[in-house]
Amino acid sequence: VRLGFPAVWLRHNCPCPDCRDPVTGQRLVEITTIPNGLVASVVAETPDAVEVTFAPGGHRSVFSQAWLMAHEQEEDPDPRSEDAKQLWQPADLTELPSANWADYLADDAVRARCLDAVVRHGFAVLRGVPATSGMVLAVAETFGYVRETNYGRLFDVRVEPSPSNLAFTSREIAPHTDNPYRDPVPTIQLLHCLRNAAAGGDTGLVDGFAAAATLRLTDRKSFDVLSATPWPFRYSDSETELQASQPLIGLSPRGRIREVRFNNRSMLPPRLPAAEADAAYAAYRVWAALLGQPELLLSLRLEPGDCLIVDNTRVLHARTAFSAESSSTGERHLQGCYADLDGLLSTLAVLRLAGWPAGKGGSRP
Ligand code: FE2
Repeated sequence: VRLGFPAVWLRHNCPCPDCRDPVTGQRLVEITTIPNGLVASVVAETPDAVEVTFAPGGHRSVFSQAWLMAHEQEEDPDPRSEDAKQLWQPADLTELPSANWADYLADDAVRARCLDAVVRHGFAVLRGVPATSGMVLAVAETFGYVRETNYGRLFDVRVEPSPSNLAFTSREIAPHTDNPYRDPVPTIQLLHCLRNAAAGGDTGLVDGFAAAATLRLTDRKSFDVLSATPWPFRYSDSETELQASQPLIGLSPRGRIREVRFNNRSMLPPRLPAAEADAAYAAYRVWAALLGQPELLLSLRLEPGDCLIVDNTRVLHARTAFSAESSSTGERHLQGCYADLDGLLSTLAVLRLAGWPAGKGGSRP
């Protein structure tokens, strides 16, 4: 019998109680205690299990056939990379990924579908979330943990008399991702509409991964420049000084699209030799023009009670200008907060292990 695994791989993953704590399931054996040049020999095999001994040392391990078979498969796609996503243009979306808040709370299948939409499409809308202050935090807590920042646990998006951020004016805001000046960035943003404007203030979404995949096809040179050039961003006010530098298109170790950052308002000039800076700006111009194409922009209007959940590493959000004067509907008022994809992915994986959505039970994402 020949095992398709190196001896060191098998030895490091021995499931016996000396090598793995039976209570926590966590590993005890250390790589540095495993000798170089280890040899594994199969001493017994049944349909369920394989028994192996190692030389030197004579340690004995029993592996289940099912476990070995599962690990012969190609690795699961990184749930954060383009490989686990359904890239979209607005024309592809026959209906918005959405769910009713009451159904989402009552039914694990609805919740799993909604969270799966955030993973695959990069966003989902919950409808009918009570339009009361602070509910955006309750929504985040259904799948993860609120990421508190210098803006607070939650932030109010409405017109302010002396705004620290253009978000707190009635101006149009072009498609962007939030907080590229943080490292790590908040990977999820929630926006809950309490009151909308009589006119304007519509929301726009752009699939940044779909756009980046298009750029890779149409202008490989610009794509390569953007994925290899760290670009600094900054936010500053009287109490805060945040700065981070990362490529506008971030790739996984496998070279796959894994995150985008795009925010003209907070971008700093990159400090590069003139020729490199010139190439970086040329690529940035191409990328910005692509992201600004109207056919990539999904427009929707958040009604009071709608809560948008967005993957902030992938989907850019925008809003149209709106009228700031009081009207019969009152002034536009949204509340937002940040959370993270790891918590959402964990919640979704637990729901899947419990069999949701039905028919896909047990498959970890
Ligand atoms: Fe934003």
